Amino acid sequence: MHPGLSDSPFLAACNRRTPSRTPVWFMRQAGRALPEYRKLREGVGMLESCRRPDLTVEITMQPVRRMGTDAAIFFSDIVVPLAAVGIDLDIVAGTGPVIAEPVRDRAAVERIRALEPDDVPDITESVGRLVEELGATPLIGFAGAPFTLASYLVEGGPSRNHVRTKELMYGQPDVWHDLLDRLGTIAAAYLRVQVDAGASAIQLFDSWVGALSLADYRRYVMPHSAKVLAAVPDVPKIHFGVGTGELLGAMGEAGADVVGVDWRVELSDAVERIGPGKAVQGNLDPTLLFTPWSVVEGKVRDVVASGAAAEGHVFNLGHGVLPETDPDVLTRIVETVHQLPVPERPAGRTDTPVPAGR
Ligand code: CP3
Repeated sequence: MHPGLSDSPFLAACNRRTPSRTPVWFMRQAGRALPEYRKLREGVGMLESCRRPDLTVEITMQPVRRMGTDAAIFFSDIVVPLAAVGIDLDIVAGTGPVIAEPVRDRAAVERIRALEPDDVPDITESVGRLVEELGATPLIGFAGAPFTLASYLVEGGPSRNHVRTKELMYGQPDVWHDLLDRLGTIAAAYLRVQVDAGASAIQLFDSWVGALSLADYRRYVMPHSAKVLAAVPDVPKIHFGVGTGELLGAMGEAGADVVGVDWRVELSDAVERIGPGKAVQGNLDPTLLFTPWSVVEGKVRDVVASGAAAEGHVFNLGHGVLPETDPDVLTRIVETVHQLPVPERPAGRTDTPVPAGR
């Protein structure tokens, strides 16, 4: 481990210690908003760019160099480990993952095998090279959570209402649980590969789980996500989904150290829902980046102020950077967050001695 990592503002906030500045990174910070990314990707398929260490390393580094973010996120996609276990799929520009043969019955579920580190030697290599190059900047590994992976596999591609996914979940719960168990095993193995190769933290993306009620989340999803988080060695674990206002407490309970919050819930309200002992990450609305800078700046300050209610706060957007975003706005946000004083925080923090006998 690089000695400078122990002073990392990002890791301090995740661990609910006092950071030297409010840490900031952006979901989808690597990607189409950056001209240098578009140039590198010319004529190269998305899956190929995730499996070629020269490209993966360079694309992961681009936003860190350009913007000075406090963490790098490994450049990959949630479906990369599924392709690595032989599921026939592609990532189509402007659409997202497309599955050749959607998974809709027991036989198809039973064909999904586990992931071995030998399936992804290039991922181990890319992470190792990145950790070396990043030095004191932490690398975040990630995976898709079982529900969101299942949604792509069952629907065959992106979906608004997740109709077929819910049909399987409610109609054949035993097949559903088998599917989520297998996807959880793959996600856990993929995260372990990244942590073993040197990633300092992980994020489990359950982007579409906000489609479920709290009761159904607890019954059909949470045990599987909890198993994934429990299987990851001792690094900070971030758990994020979109539209998950009703699920934030349960997503924390699933075993997250940091709960990712989208822009629909004020961070101070999110802290109430999540309860003590967790940090939060978020939550500037990514569409706000298209408004005049004075508006953006005011909202950045609001997010930092609201995040002060948490025992730890990692500044981020409420979801990924949109492709049309002006990257200079991202850089200005990083500068602004870094210049703001680190807010006073509530008690219960890991570096605050608890007074005895009161
Ligand atoms: O910088 C980073 O955050 C790392 C890169 C990253 C990608 N995918 C690269 C990518 C990450 C963290 C992901 C995760 C991912 N992939 C999620 C969870 C995060 C989220 O946004 O909720 C999901 C749901 C997917 C599935 C997926 N893959 C979608 C919805 C899309 C976008 C479709 C489109 O083209 O608009 C993809 C493709 C994808 N993944 C791209 C990138 C840079 C665009 C493809 C390209 O550049 O050709």
